[in-house]
Amino acid sequence: MLSKPNSNNFYTNNKLSSYSLNSKEELEANKPIVITTALPYANGEIHLGHISSTYLPADIFTRFLRISKMKVFHVGASDDFGTPILIKAEKENKTPKEFVDYWNRRDLEDFNAIGISFDKFYKTSSIENQKFVQYIFNKLRSNGHIYEKEVIQFYCDFDNKFLPDRYVIGICPYCRSKDQYSDLCEKCGRVPEEILEPKCGICGQSPIKKTSKHYFFKLSNFSFELKEWLTRNKNLQEDIKNYVLHWIGEGLEDWDITRDLDWGIKIPLEDAKGKVFYGWFDNHLCYISTFNALIKERIGRHGKDIWNTSSIYHFIGKDIIYHHFLFLPAIRMGINREYKLPDYIPVRGHLMLHNKKISKSRNWYIGLKEFISLFKPDFLRFYIALISTSSQDDINFDWDIFYSTINNELIDNIGNFINRTLSFIKKNYDGIVPEPGVYYEEDKNGIKAIMNIAKDTGEFLHKTETDKALKTILKFSNFFNQYFQRKEPWCNKDSTAHTTLYISINAVRALAILLSPFIPKSAEIIWSQLNNNDKVHEESWEGLSLLKIPPGHRIGNISPIFKKIERKEIEKEKIKLGSID
Ligand code: 2FM
Ligand code: ZN
Repeated sequence: MLSKPNSNNFYTNNKLSSYSLNSKEELEANKPIVITTALPYANGEIHLGHISSTYLPADIFTRFLRISKMKVFHVGASDDFGTPILIKAEKENKTPKEFVDYWNRRDLEDFNAIGISFDKFYKTSSIENQKFVQYIFNKLRSNGHIYEKEVIQFYCDFDNKFLPDRYVIGICPYCRSKDQYSDLCEKCGRVPEEILEPKCGICGQSPIKKTSKHYFFKLSNFSFELKEWLTRNKNLQEDIKNYVLHWIGEGLEDWDITRDLDWGIKIPLEDAKGKVFYGWFDNHLCYISTFNALIKERIGRHGKDIWNTSSIYHFIGKDIIYHHFLFLPAIRMGINREYKLPDYIPVRGHLMLHNKKISKSRNWYIGLKEFISLFKPDFLRFYIALISTSSQDDINFDWDIFYSTINNELIDNIGNFINRTLSFIKKNYDGIVPEPGVYYEEDKNGIKAIMNIAKDTGEFLHKTETDKALKTILKFSNFFNQYFQRKEPWCNKDSTAHTTLYISINAVRALAILLSPFIPKSAEIIWSQLNNNDKVHEESWEGLSLLKIPPGHRIGNISPIFKKIERKEIEKEKIKLGSID
């Protein structure tokens, strides 16, 4: 079947009416989107587990929304308070402030190195957060959701410290698992009311009990409202919703939100000297205070109205479900929803390392900084994005699969098609895209593939299904590898070959934009080899499905975008890790 479109304008200028995202209303209203990522504790380096459960899915989503021309704000911060930080700072002979300032800087450096793009990365110890937390506490108190109670607390005579929950280890009263923290059972995910057989987490001795006056948040006031919110919100993962509803059904315990420490946000009451807020009271409020600080910096306005008219996403790992599905919404309910509740809470599972739980102390661990000193950050992004499902199932990092995924999928599939097309035009057409001639059925299918790919991939990305989106892109690239091979443009320099090259170079253009949320640095390199003027991240998602590279366009200097990983590099890493079953 031979035919020729009336004019190339048909492919370059037509509006893609079929393009729609799953949340079309949002797109049409260009409703702002606020994305928050769980705050890393300012006491240790970012590792691959953090990246896979939280920051990479959020960053891919953020970049996708930006290129889709949505108003999007990605905010994060370091989580600066808590006894573990205090103890570590003491060990290093630093003040807690010096200590957390170091980790705040270091975290941001590591995030930048892997391309996690925050609009603002701040800290829970910021003045703005301190004031905001105190404001929220006062408001909760005047709304009748705070009460005082004497508590009997664990105290270690040996360490001279009240022991915070993380430093009391024992048996979970619900599921009877041993060695659980007293504020979270990692086996059943619940917050124990009273841990059994407690031991001091610093020295291992049995702590004594002492009395102290604490402030409590009446979480139990919100059982009904929480149930309603969870039931109504259709964007939350069903399985998670169900067991959170089950927890509510079992009865919610009020939360002790104060600690006898001096490192933390002060309680704004005269008779609360020597006490600070519990880290889990202030850290999630930092999502909002950081957002407000960002809006103030950008446009000099208060952020509240923008927050309240935005779609709110909190990206988290599955170990902090309890806090984000109960505690966080209840506090916002307790201040009369002055700041709206989240619309989405994308929850992801843990990253396992060769099927075993990551553990720094057992050296079963890969730090982010070390990883990207060895391999391109985009390799890590590509591999994690491809294996990371949008569910709370755990995923597995495996050096051999990393090796084969990068070499076979990213390089042999995507890299090969891009390089082949660019170098063929460079060599045989002096770098100038030829004028297309006849369009056969296969060419038309190629054009169709380009026209559909923005929508097909965009639908997955809008639902934060990065793995499905990337698989769709791989299929697209595979299709074009086969197309190029079958069309054999090397046989004749005729109009058939010209059509193939014209379509292929436009598929390369589409790939650069498609890949920009996933592997942003490499996508910019592809873009510059295409010799496009602007940057790829300034393009539009919708426009990727147009054939915008015209005949006569001269491509830029080219070189292979990626270099294959060598077997010996992987073997070295496996040896470093020790025994792999
Ligand atoms: O579990 C953690 O690592 C905490 N630092 C997460 C805090 S997220 C919060 F701010 F809601
Ligand atoms: Zn002790």
